[in-house]
Amino acid sequence: MSELAWWQRGVIYQIYPRSFQDSNGDGIGDLRGIGTRLEYVAALGADAVWISPICPSPMADFGYDVADYCNIDPIFGTLDEFKQLMGHAHRLRLKVLLDFVPNHSSNRHPWFEQSRSSRDNPKRDWYLWRDPAPDGGPPNNWLSRMGGSAWEWDEVTGQYYYHAFLREQPDLNWRSPQLRRAMDHVLRFWLDLGVDGFRVDVVWLLIKDAQFRDNPPNPAYRPGEPDHHRLLQSYTEDQPEVHEIVRSMRATLDEYGERVLIGEIYLTVPQLVKYYGVNGEGAHMPFNFQLLNARWNANEIAGMIRDYDIALPEYAWPNWVLGNHDNPRVASRVGAAQARVAAVLLLTLRGTPTLYYGDEIGMTDGDIAPDEVQDPAELRQPGICQGRDPERTPMQWDGSLPNAGFTDGKPWLPIATSTSVREQDGDMSSMLSLYRRLLGLRRSNAALVRGTIENVVAYGDVLTYERRYGNERLFIALNMGVEEATVQSRPGLLLLSTVSTRSGENFVQGANLLAASEAVIVVV
Ligand code: GLC
Ligand code: CA
Repeated sequence: MSELAWWQRGVIYQIYPRSFQDSNGDGIGDLRGIGTRLEYVAALGADAVWISPICPSPMADFGYDVADYCNIDPIFGTLDEFKQLMGHAHRLRLKVLLDFVPNHSSNRHPWFEQSRSSRDNPKRDWYLWRDPAPDGGPPNNWLSRMGGSAWEWDEVTGQYYYHAFLREQPDLNWRSPQLRRAMDHVLRFWLDLGVDGFRVDVVWLLIKDAQFRDNPPNPAYRPGEPDHHRLLQSYTEDQPEVHEIVRSMRATLDEYGERVLIGEIYLTVPQLVKYYGVNGEGAHMPFNFQLLNARWNANEIAGMIRDYDIALPEYAWPNWVLGNHDNPRVASRVGAAQARVAAVLLLTLRGTPTLYYGDEIGMTDGDIAPDEVQDPAELRQPGICQGRDPERTPMQWDGSLPNAGFTDGKPWLPIATSTSVREQDGDMSSMLSLYRRLLGLRRSNAALVRGTIENVVAYGDVLTYERRYGNERLFIALNMGVEEATVQSRPGLLLLSTVSTRSGENFVQGANLLAASEAVIVVV
């Protein structure tokens, strides 16, 4: 499989660093902690870790508000510790991806402090400053994704600045050549250290309308939805100029050999695939988040798989995501039994899978008491925004009380449930064992990694498809319902079933029975 790049062959494992492993008892995960768990990630069968932001930050949005792009926040450790962690990961043949947050900085970043200090500061245009509207109010109607106007009044110079998220996260101005050069240096700083690539935060928001036109009303808005849904984001997202910026990031990575550029993009498939670039000179992988919001329905998912495969340009490498730190966990979305089916789906689809930490043990969303809420998105939009704390609770390593082996102190968020890596470790019927088997299979099976996906069909609650490479052919069938179902199978040998008591039997041509919530992989 050598002609594929590592990120095409591999599986990415997302670590939310606050929640993976604490090493010093302050209740917050850190780099040393991650270091003690890298063997676990490698043994699981992942090929790369993506670590959510670890740069110095006032933590208004838990690291997505960066105050220094070229260092490590003391909560997580030091730059030396990061270098050690990366060396350790590389010795285990794990690649290391960082989160790059170029759309906005912290309001405590020295760049912003200079920018706000006077109208003629050389960094003034590194951010988006505008005069008030004639009535003194915000310059236009743009809304923040964290609620309210996206414009914050600043007394110092008598202008407003734009922030797509919190007021503590002023948006950077990607029309400024100096800012672009500074950000290019940031990429090079980490690439020079040996980082294997980046997940680029909110890349589809990077550039805004040059004329600052009002966004039009959204006719589909329903009261109770987050505030910013009241408007279509016509002038604040997915602007044509964004592609040239992605291209320039990619060009920098290309100077360093096999590094990967992944974009966080919540858009429709036709818009999404444009982020690969016209000839594949854009992002290697614009994240495909379709499964995060999919109705868990065989027909719907079959359509999604087919449409995505058709929409992808020939040079584009697909990818699938089942969970991340911004969305409810898959085990809570679809239930424990279907989460096993979802694991088979994620790891047998065509393209690079990204796993979210803890999903491999079926972690569910935690229960967060009102006085324990940490997520600024929820704190600023109470009752409207579904908070993101539930999917960010600490990794459950063992059954030890009260902190599941995550910390010796008080965890920054409560432990969600009682299951743990230790409990599932030796149990062949556990979710963890299922993930390990699936990842092992993917590694050894060319059809799963590089094969085409064909004959994607749904009937009732059953979804089936094939993966094909040369003479190798796999038939995959998922029962997405709670009843037994007959599957119109191909003849072959059962390679894997989510029902742990089944293995090695022959599938005959025609009707075979799948148990409720059973998924199978058959060699045909
Ligand atoms: C991305 C991150 C999210 C963060 C936001 C602002 O969507 O995944 O966690 O709040 O960007 O940086
Ligand atoms: Ca710590």
